[in-house]
Amino acid sequence: MEKNRSIINILDLSVDEVAHLVKTANDIEKNPEKYQERCAHKKLATLFYEPSTRTRLSFEAAMLELGGQTLGFAGAQNSSASKGESVADTIEVVSNYADIIAMRHPKEGAPVVAAAHTHVPFINAGDGGHFHPTQTLADILTIERTKETLSGLTIGLCGDLKFGRTVHSLIDAMLRYPDNKYILISPNELRLPEYELDKLRDAGASFEETKSLEDAIPKLDILYMTRVQKERFFNEEDYLRLKDTYVLTPEKLLTAKADMAILHPLPRVNEISVAVDKDPRAKYFYQTLCGKQMRMALILYLLGLD
Ligand code: NCD
Repeated sequence: MEKNRSIINILDLSVDEVAHLVKTANDIEKNPEKYQERCAHKKLATLFYEPSTRTRLSFEAAMLELGGQTLGFAGAQNSSASKGESVADTIEVVSNYADIIAMRHPKEGAPVVAAAHTHVPFINAGDGGHFHPTQTLADILTIERTKETLSGLTIGLCGDLKFGRTVHSLIDAMLRYPDNKYILISPNELRLPEYELDKLRDAGASFEETKSLEDAIPKLDILYMTRVQKERFFNEEDYLRLKDTYVLTPEKLLTAKADMAILHPLPRVNEISVAVDKDPRAKYFYQTLCGKQMRMALILYLLGLD
């Protein structure tokens, strides 16, 4: 492994590497004690220029469960970014303080700058409306464990397909497994961006776009709900008009397959009613556990400690 390998998009990991991480995560689940000192004396820096609960805490919990330590900041206002320091300089400096870095940044492309300056492994923990590779690792483990396959699935992606970076990374990832079908459920204003649609077309994938969650539900093996990304809207009015377009309720699930898996990267706002949480098909809280285990596997892999 290169000393400063960077994971900016999920495609920076090969299909074999993803399979390797799934295997490590499954072993972590079975034998956690085997891993509890693996990262002793190693430090993870979490540089979060944007709000986060799960991603930052699961990275930190992952490192702590591996016996390592963490440092970092949550919020640009708590870092020298507020004094005008560039991402490039911050990464040069933090490379001297930590063995591995995870960074979330509101600007698409910031991880490319970081990757050019890091001396240690670097992980993109979400850049603007672009990519979120470690959420995709969480999604993949959840799908693999609940469906026992990553191929031949009909996957419904619902909500903010325009700004939802988790959606973009998940499509990139699933296109590498054969025979998956995609149903893209969104209002017109929040359709999947052309550059992602082109990837579906270029791969010859079967996909359709629809506004109707009700029409799509009976066909799905996976329903991936997303939050309307308020922070990426240019005006409040559009957000308010679109935010409650889709609300998944127990009634809407009556026509769904008995083994459909409901995923959501969280945080949820209104798009899944809390009454759905009791449904055995609801996998979104389980998905957060999968996220921690995959981040443990990724940290180990990038540090060459697995
Ligand atoms: C997602 C994100 O930050 O893109 N959250 C997460 O990391 N679990 C989804 C979202 O914020 O809606």
